[in-house]
Amino acid sequence: MQFLKDFGVSIFFILAFGTGIFLLSRGGVELDFSALLNRATAILSLSAGSLNGWRAEGGFTKDVFPGEKSHFISYLKEYLASRGASLGSSSLFDDKTQSALIDFQKNNSLPTTGALDAGTRAFINDDLAEDLCPSSDGNEQEDDTLESVSRDHELRDDYAPANLVLLPDEVRKNGIICVTEDTADALLSMMRAASNDGIYLRVTSGFRRFEIQEYLYDLYKKINGPDFWRGIASPGHSEHQLGTTVDLTGLSIKNASTSAAFGKSKEGSWMSLHAGDYGFVMSYPDGKESVTGYKYEPWHWRFVGVDVAKKVRASGKTLCEFLKDLSSGK
Ligand code: DAL
Ligand code: ZN
Repeated sequence: MQFLKDFGVSIFFILAFGTGIFLLSRGGVELDFSALLNRATAILSLSAGSLNGWRAEGGFTKDVFPGEKSHFISYLKEYLASRGASLGSSSLFDDKTQSALIDFQKNNSLPTTGALDAGTRAFINDDLAEDLCPSSDGNEQEDDTLESVSRDHELRDDYAPANLVLLPDEVRKNGIICVTEDTADALLSMMRAASNDGIYLRVTSGFRRFEIQEYLYDLYKKINGPDFWRGIASPGHSEHQLGTTVDLTGLSIKNASTSAAFGKSKEGSWMSLHAGDYGFVMSYPDGKESVTGYKYEPWHWRFVGVDVAKKVRASGKTLCEFLKDLSSGK
């Protein structure tokens, strides 16, 4: 399977869902989701922290040769270790790593260059993208768009939605981000409409599998002080695990991630006026922490479909209250 061969500038976005195949091409890049089967509960090839680091970098994007030092080599060593090699964790591309890589290349019918070259990068990027965004027949097939996910309602650890698709470069701030197909369609229409109004939105986060949320939760705990929990869901409790939720930013705030300034920015104001027309609702509005369980997050928008988004607005309830009432038949 050819995958993430290189990171060019031009973008071609090809979807072929009739056959269950999803390809995303960016210049020389080809992403092929056809072989992603039953990966939702697979053991990850990297720790969640390294997988998130690899994601944020946009994958292995540069060739690395023996003797060189690169943070990519730490990821490579961890990846090869998950296949039985014992290589330590430094960023130096040492002899032992080179010979483990040659074995790996032989076993996978790759040219045995002993370097982290384009072909090998493509192969490993392919594998890691499957870990990050499992797109398989084994994923949840029911429609979970209106599932109540909150402090007191969690998803299964291995829950992943069906039909995850990668977002194209031009709508992401950086890294590799996927959301469900319906969410992507609505998001791309909304972002096109915004840009026609001179409003430039970018996505900073989308689907997060349980292990990535767990990593982020622990990270927030370490770096955000005793109040850290007010801004992060514990693993299994994040709407991001549904694949229908995105964090947004805008050009006017220099595409800063999870910034409270987004609320008052022109992009945030545009979202408050128009997001409902595309089926998005702000999950954690200002002044509602006692109801939602989370402090104000003007950047966090969940796709629920146009009808429901309009009903939520008309009800005056928070999304969390609305979905709880809906599930209990109120
Ligand atoms: N920041 C939101 C609450 C999350 O972690 O899902
Ligand atoms: Zn969020």
